[in-house]
Amino acid sequence: MSVATQTKRLYTASIKKQKRKTPLVCLTAYSAPMATLLDPYVDILLVGDSLGMVVYGLPSTLQVTLEMMINHGAAVVRGSQKACVVVDLPFGSYQQSPQQAFQNAARVLSETGCQAVKLEGGAEMAETVAFLTARGIPVMAHIGLQPQSMNVYGGFKVQGKQPSEQQTLLEAAQALEAARAFAVVIEGVKETTARHLTEHLTIPTIGIGASVTCDGQVLVTDDLLGLLSGFQPKFVKQYATLTPVITKAVEQFAADVRTRDFPTPSQLYL
Ligand code: KIV
Repeated sequence: MSVATQTKRLYTASIKKQKRKTPLVCLTAYSAPMATLLDPYVDILLVGDSLGMVVYGLPSTLQVTLEMMINHGAAVVRGSQKACVVVDLPFGSYQQSPQQAFQNAARVLSETGCQAVKLEGGAEMAETVAFLTARGIPVMAHIGLQPQSMNVYGGFKVQGKQPSEQQTLLEAAQALEAARAFAVVIEGVKETTARHLTEHLTIPTIGIGASVTCDGQVLVTDDLLGLLSGFQPKFVKQYATLTPVITKAVEQFAADVRTRDFPTPSQLYL
């Protein structure tokens, strides 16, 4: 599979086959225009619940609603043609029971047109993942650092540091694989743990703060573009610095308005 030559929408079956092949490229997108910009270059567009902080200025992902995810998911599907679109199930929309998860995941799939959902959790979520995948809902799992469980961890902490934690993570990932998750995001784990999981799983591992040993990488696009100010996790590599570009443009616009240098005759209907 090569994203450059591919013309049709990528489904999760093709993503799964990428295990141990060319690394998978995944970026977050929350809007149609950004999806259009990223689509030619990525395998997966993730409508992450990180949108709660990035788009809505919320303190964490815990306040994100199903309606937010559906609205942004639908926009990303409309703005893209080739990438496999995966939409996060928000906190509280799937943990209660497999039935609750199915009801909400089915809404996400049918109302957005996305190809899969992502949910956080280890072995305790395997039953739910099996319930969804048996009923036509492809699932990407998410283990390691799980932002929706920040209140349990007491913040965002690197996972899998101890050998026993590494074993727990492997058992969780294998349970999710047996439940037919098509891929697993591994967030905030040591390189040795990421390598161990990647070697022992038959489904692709998509790393974020989990080293180059994974079968693919995901980043929050706004971090990569330097669109956010403030705290940047160590695992982010910034490929552009757009904040000063925006500041300069807006500063110039404001000055032009105040000095009546905008609009000029070329912006007028004559
Ligand atoms: O919500 C999100 O953007 C995510 C990625 C960072 C993996 O879950």
